[in-house]
Amino acid sequence: MRKYRIAVFVGSLRKDSNNRKLANAIVRLAPSDFSFKQVQISDLPLYNQDDDANPAESVKRLKGEITASQGLLFVTAEYNRSIPGVLKNAIDHASRPYGQSAWAGKPAGVMGVSVGAIGTAIAQQHLRNVLAYLDVPTLGQPEVFIQAKDGLFDENGNIGAGSKKFLQAWMDQYVAWLKKHAA
Ligand SMILES: Cc1cc2nc3c(=O)[nH]c(=O)nc-3n(C[C@H](O)[C@H](O)[C@H](O)COP(=O)(O)O)c2cc1C
Repeated sequence: MRKYRIAVFVGSLRKDSNNRKLANAIVRLAPSDFSFKQVQISDLPLYNQDDDANPAESVKRLKGEITASQGLLFVTAEYNRSIPGVLKNAIDHASRPYGQSAWAGKPAGVMGVSVGAIGTAIAQQHLRNVLAYLDVPTLGQPEVFIQAKDGLFDENGNIGAGSKKFLQAWMDQYVAWLKKHAA
């Protein structure tokens, strides 16, 4: 059976991050031929084009993990109606040096949770814009804009009953779409 390795990017470094909890929980809805690994972005230096010829070990690791994956999953917070800087920094790192982007052609899912009523919708639109430029196709539907509320996760960190059906449908769609891209 073919295996699909997915590189997961969490757009928040906060210890108690809801987006990290969502990233941990959503992968439990995936079939056994899919494996997910959260990519560390907290130790990346601030992107500086002067370093393109001599990238840090953390940058080489980042690009290696993307290259080794068949797909991507972004689970991001919204900061000031856009993508948190830590996530954009990681995206910029892996897009360079010019002509050596690790992103091109890797299919991606996008989702997020925030305290705001529109549940990271604007951050996700900004992210989709950036990913389109990097030649990363994104799953269009269903969109996943989640407002953090009690019961979103159960006591074991699984998706709570109220969102389970919707997010399982998202996962089923993501899996089918990703397999088509990987074929
Ligand atoms: C710098 C900053 C900017 C924020 N801007 C937004 C925003 O534009 N929209 C929103 O819904 N929430 C915003 N928030 C609140 C976040 O939704 C909330 O902190 C959320 O818990 C962050 O995700 P996390 O739990 O994964 O860290 C902001 C929080 C911070 C710290």
